[in-house]
Amino acid sequence: MKKMFAVTAVVLFAASSALAADGAALFKSKMCGACHGPGKKGGDFKTCKLDKAAILKVLKDPKSVNPKATMMAIKGSDEELNAIADYVLTLRK
Ligand code: HEC
Repeated sequence: MKKMFAVTAVVLFAASSALAADGAALFKSKMCGACHGPGKKGGDFKTCKLDKAAILKVLKDPKSVNPKATMMAIKGSDEELNAIADYVLTLRK
């Protein structure tokens, strides 16, 4: 029984680190870095104060958060957008 628990823990750990890696890969493949970073027009995420829910809103519909937003909505599944939002939060540290 103990062994089964250990195996489950390893599988869960592997699954969660795969998700984090996904966020970074999606961030690259969706070209966020073209507009976001130090000195770029979209700003650096180090100074972003939004919480995860607000970041998700920006990704789905930037104008819902800021009516003057020029950023386009990001296409992707809920899982993908979730992974991207988690990744954006890691860029603050
Ligand atoms: C074409 C340029 C462009 C691309 C590509 C882009 N953004 Fe943006 N983003 C902006 C601009 C400009 C803003 C500032 C508000 C506005 O004008 O929309 C912004 C704002 C944001 C904000 C709100 C920041 C804050 O603190 O208010 C988040 C979060 C964000 N972008 C995430 C992303 C992510 C994640 C990606 C990639 C999936 C991405 N953006 C791709 C231009 C872009």
